[in-house]
Amino acid sequence: MKKIIIANWKAKLGPREAISLAKKYSFLNSKYSLVVCPDFSVIYPISELLKKTKIFFGSQDCSAFPSGAHTGEVSASSLKTLGAKYVIIGHSERRANGEGIDLILQKVQKVLAEKMIPVVCVGESAKERLQKKTMTILTKQLSQVFNKLSPEQKSQKIFVAYEPVWAVGSGQALAPEESEFICGFIKKNTNSLGASKVEVLYGGSVSANNAKEYLNQDNVSGLLIGGASLDFSVFRKIINC
Ligand code: PGA
Repeated sequence: MKKIIIANWKAKLGPREAISLAKKYSFLNSKYSLVVCPDFSVIYPISELLKKTKIFFGSQDCSAFPSGAHTGEVSASSLKTLGAKYVIIGHSERRANGEGIDLILQKVQKVLAEKMIPVVCVGESAKERLQKKTMTILTKQLSQVFNKLSPEQKSQKIFVAYEPVWAVGSGQALAPEESEFICGFIKKNTNSLGASKVEVLYGGSVSANNAKEYLNQDNVSGLLIGGASLDFSVFRKIINC
């Protein structure tokens, strides 16, 4: 599999800025698979814009419910209709805003039912890292999802993004050797829970200076990038590394 780079634009761009950045992205060429995840307000125009390009698009979230009477929600099936291929689920910024494991699990299941690829985010906090609880936390977060999936769901492609909470948006990235070790651990762990097609990405303060080191690691199948994906010249450096 080609390694993958997923840009998570969060809620950082207004519609005009997002569309103008998507236009610049649309000309990119890379040895990596490229995915952009804009916010819901611009998913439709950006999906149209990227149709004839090599850039995939995804969503930063989706509803835990099917289409229907769920005011304010965006269903996985609508995203699928627009051509989304990936959906980020359980990002630490959403967990911090109260998203719990029940919703996360339902969302993963909705995404899998639409044959899209969930990008399930896991990671320990600064305090948990200090207490040397990283592996315990990851084991718990993974089992909360993977133990609840059916064998058929577990046979589908699923991405896990290892994003240490303390590294997200902080400028403090994880040492690349550690990303190799932890991504390998996640792969083995999910395998032992019966999920055979899991690929593990690293995310958290990825920059033009460190991207290559992560992408050189065998167990790191790609990157989930926030801040550095908003600056086009930085992002171009990363996808050409
Ligand atoms: P960052 O964000 O690259 O700005 O640290 C990563 C993420 O939130 O997915």
